[in-house]
Amino acid sequence: MKKVLITGASGLVGRAVSDALRADGHTVEPMRRASGSADSGSAITWDPASGRIDRDRLDGFDAVVHLAGESIDGRWTAAKRARIRDSRVVGTRLLCETLAGLNSPPSTLIAASAIGFYGNRGDEVCDESSSAGNGFLADVAERWEATTSPALEAGIRTVNLRIGIVLSSRGGALPRMLLPFRLGLGGPVGSGRQYWSWIALDDLVGIVRTALDDRRLIGPVNAVAPGAVRQREFATTLARLLRRPSFMPLPAFAVRAMLGEMGDALLLTGAHVVPKKLTEIGFEFRHPDLASALRAALAER
Ligand SMILES: NC(=O)c1ccc[n+]([C@@H]2O[C@H](COP(=O)([O-])OP(=O)(O)OC[C@H]3O[C@@H](n4cnc5c(N)ncnc54)[C@H](OP(=O)(O)O)[C@@H]3O)[C@@H](O)[C@H]2O)c1
Repeated sequence: MKKVLITGASGLVGRAVSDALRADGHTVEPMRRASGSADSGSAITWDPASGRIDRDRLDGFDAVVHLAGESIDGRWTAAKRARIRDSRVVGTRLLCETLAGLNSPPSTLIAASAIGFYGNRGDEVCDESSSAGNGFLADVAERWEATTSPALEAGIRTVNLRIGIVLSSRGGALPRMLLPFRLGLGGPVGSGRQYWSWIALDDLVGIVRTALDDRRLIGPVNAVAPGAVRQREFATTLARLLRRPSFMPLPAFAVRAMLGEMGDALLLTGAHVVPKKLTEIGFEFRHPDLASALRAALAER
């Protein structure tokens, strides 16, 4: 059994990973942001913004799962963009430089990244060897991954999980789609041809579990299901499961007017990302196809 430190443990993925690892019998300790929770008590804390971290309490963990980062939801004002970037780049540098300098560093670091790394790729199929794309999210993801290098150089096996759109009713993108779809207002967004590469929350947890143990996983790993679809098919599948129509187009100009650059990056563009490394090691997805993943997400409590 392992002793695992988790950042971003209060988030959608962090809660699911913490629960699953505890259920497996591991000891899980969250590292909370001191400024983010009034009552941190005896918890291990850090404040990525000011560079403070409970260094003395980080010795002796077997693994670190690093998920912290400002939500990319909301309008990307200059201040919001700075928080999205710095919470990942500055926070990851602080964590990784600290881990690299410990007397007893962890043997494994599993660090979140995102398929935003690939940018807008049209019909190109992207595996882990594909180059970084262009745009704000691609730039952030590239730097986010690069700042884990002090950990890797210190001999810590570092896995950069390029996470796709996480499907869960408990948070992330899906709950925000449900209301319009339930009202019969779902349908193609923009051209509807853009790829959405997604992952069931349950499978993402399975990938983290696998990455903790499987030493074949190192460096970038696409945490997406094999069944990426175009947005139009995503809309049709979700509407079918909800027994609603999916005819209502949402034109690109309306998305840009409502959401600005964030709408362009998250809704109107995408990349067809495939889980090459996970397939090579024989990882078995519980929800390899979209209908199965959405059914599981809609059944969550
Ligand atoms: N959900 C998705 O679809 C998706 C897709 C691709 C990549 N990812 C990445 O996977 C990671 C986990 O995703 P998630 O959906 O669980 O995110 P989330 O629900 O937004 O949780 C992220 C956690 O990060 C911490 N955090 C928030 N703002 C922060 C800031 N300004 N500085 C430092 N830490 C901050 C918080 O934890 P504490 O309060 O405990 O510190 C928060 O609960 C994120 O890095 C995200 O970018 C997620």
